[in-house]
Amino acid sequence: MSAERARAAVLAGIGAMVPPRVVTNDDLPDSLGTSDEWIRTRTGIQQRHWADPGTATGDMALIAGERALKSAGSSAVDMVILATSTPDHPCPATAPEVAARLGLGVVPAYDMSVACSGFIYALSAAAGAIATGIADRVLVIGADTWSTRLNPDDRITAVIFGDGAGAAVVRAGDPDEPGALVGFDLGSDGSGKELVGVPGGGSRQLSTGEPARKTDDYLYMRGKEIFTHAVDRMSGSSSRLLERVGWSASSVDWFVGHQANVRILHTVADLLDVDRSQVVINLDRVGNTSAASIPLALSDVTGSGRFTPGQRILMTAFGAGLTWGSAALTWPSLTPVLT
Ligand code: UT7
Repeated sequence: MSAERARAAVLAGIGAMVPPRVVTNDDLPDSLGTSDEWIRTRTGIQQRHWADPGTATGDMALIAGERALKSAGSSAVDMVILATSTPDHPCPATAPEVAARLGLGVVPAYDMSVACSGFIYALSAAAGAIATGIADRVLVIGADTWSTRLNPDDRITAVIFGDGAGAAVVRAGDPDEPGALVGFDLGSDGSGKELVGVPGGGSRQLSTGEPARKTDDYLYMRGKEIFTHAVDRMSGSSSRLLERVGWSASSVDWFVGHQANVRILHTVADLLDVDRSQVVINLDRVGNTSAASIPLALSDVTGSGRFTPGQRILMTAFGAGLTWGSAALTWPSLTPVLT
């Protein structure tokens, strides 16, 4: 890396985990009033993984983090960022405990709460820390355990969400080398905060002193409106980013979007003029894993060898907040670590 060039964040390792319990569409309770046929045709999801009782976000983040460090060939990192909206506790953050359990010493470690956009936001924070010399190597993890907050009577959320964790190691490098994160686009619109979220458990509710209802702790979503926003925000953000980094849509080799609904991903690809065959899909097997979604998809393709070094990868995500973000990456040579 030449001294006069800006330091880029370069993807050096990737790891992921999903909990062992598979829940197929047919396994979902009859009381939900849904069907395998409806879920497959309206979302593309065939199954998801739900954590067993006693498994928290930090446990999954730990395993994904271990695998990413192994994939990078070194456990030397000087920062940990954990994107999650289902932390182990409201306080303290989960990241310091994960860092300690990974044996990383006293590195700075913090949680980032931007729901399904979390991994892209966390990557951008890692890139910023690397660009400014605050860190040389950062472990970025996206992990969520939304099964702990699903309303068993709500078929809008119960059919979509799954649990999982994905992680990446990014290191200081050259903007031109394979693996470089070459640009980001981020955004938010808090006026849409009512469309998806968990109403209870925060200071907004606790400050009222009113007794909590069980449903306050559940995730709710106004699905149709979120669908429209997801399409608009992910396509808009992706277009802005492509322009910023000077990539034409036809030069993009793979499109890795937040895995919430295959119809959303195909619509965004169509709007961007990216062929549907270049859209990475793993939601059929894992559902919507929120902050883990993008790194789980990246881990999937790393293991399959579908991506080749130097290829252009466009990543984009959207989630509660509302928040959204996109990142442009050239693919590195990576060693997958699956167990
Ligand atoms: O990760 C954060 C971002 N999240 C997302 O991006 C998710 C975005 N939203 C979606 O993916 C979709 O809106 C859903 C999958 C949640 C819902 O699909 P939809 O095609 O938008 O359904 P809808 O809400 O417009 O409902 C259409 C019909 C309704 O019945 P009627 O009124 O037409 O008789 C619903 O009651 O489908 C019914 N319905 C269901 N039926 C069986 C809604 N959910 C279900 C279900 N099973 N799970």
